[in-house]
Amino acid sequence: MAANIDGVVAQYKAKINERLGLFFDEKIEEASKISDYTQEVVANIKEYTLRGGKRLRPIFLIYGYKCLADDNIDAIIEASISIELMQSYLLIHDDIMDEDELRRGKPTFHIEYRNICATLFGEDDTRKFGENIAILAGDLLEAYGIDVLTNSRFKEEYITKALQKYAEIVKNVGYGQILDIMSEKKKDITEAEILLIHKLKTASYTIENPLQIGAILAGAVEADLAVMSNYGLPLGLAFQIQDDILGLFGTEEKIGKPVGSDIQEGKKTLLILHALSNCSEKEKGIITSALGNADVTTAEIDTIRDIVRETGSLDYSKRLVGEKIEEAIHAIEGSNFRAEAKEFLVMIADFVGVRDF
Ligand code: IPE
Ligand code: IPE
Ligand code: MG
Ligand code: MG
Repeated sequence: MAANIDGVVAQYKAKINERLGLFFDEKIEEASKISDYTQEVVANIKEYTLRGGKRLRPIFLIYGYKCLADDNIDAIIEASISIELMQSYLLIHDDIMDEDELRRGKPTFHIEYRNICATLFGEDDTRKFGENIAILAGDLLEAYGIDVLTNSRFKEEYITKALQKYAEIVKNVGYGQILDIMSEKKKDITEAEILLIHKLKTASYTIENPLQIGAILAGAVEADLAVMSNYGLPLGLAFQIQDDILGLFGTEEKIGKPVGSDIQEGKKTLLILHALSNCSEKEKGIITSALGNADVTTAEIDTIRDIVRETGSLDYSKRLVGEKIEEAIHAIEGSNFRAEAKEFLVMIADFVGVRDF
């Protein structure tokens, strides 16, 4: 990350984490009145949420606000954790669906509860139990995010609008995840379909909508929200394409999730789609037999990496990331938002393209 925004990001991250910690302590207290089991689940949700994460969404929410206002910063930091609670909810459910075992460098929530079940009740068949508790943890987190926005210290009218946006995010991610799961089964998928999935499941909820919630709480009008779409959607797309690149070419240590799991899950990312339409029949066979194969070997994944490089597919995705970032920067530079916020949003856009975690 550019040196000058490093400090700003670190400063907000610390404040966001502090608020998250305080929020969870209240919820642990609330859950402790029900039972030791509920208290323990909420304590584990706290650990899961605080164990890592870039905090991009609350930071975008804060900067959406700062595009238009510079007072009540403490109140917007408080409100910003709503979107991080939603993030924990979506990640916990996503990891169940994707059968991933590692998130932010540690066991995913359903795996954690599989292990807890074995310890608590001494049973062998713990998979369903782990997934059930993880579904419920996600449900709690979704409600917690609503709690935070409802109780935020802004005008009633703004809060109502922010809550509508919150509901819109959950709906869009839901539609995107439906299409994402269908795409694993579907034989022929087009680039346009992949980009639509990226838009729904990532771009809007990672950048566009968090910015808009922040802006709404500062009293934004429709034209402000439109600029945030023009910036947030291309940048969100770049973010997801970069995520797919890291998912194949990154390191588990840096990204905190398994490398190559998109292939095991049969996910047709842009990298794979572009490689498939530019490789030989033999290479096509290698890719298609690896896709969706839970037992794919590291040697096979290495071969797929070579194919993705040699067909120019990696360069194609990288180029698209670059173009989308330029589009986002152009949109924000042309706006009449506060200069400090604009500067930050330009710099963070560049980070999306160079990030390796
Ligand atoms: C992960 O989001 C899910 C995607 C949309 C790719 P992040 O990469 O922002 O995850 P954290 O919050 O930093 O762990
Ligand atoms: C996660 O999508 C998107 C949401 C959580 C809504 P992916 O399944 O592609 O992301 P990772 O690789 O698990 O983070
Ligand atoms: Mg996943
Ligand atoms: Mg997924």
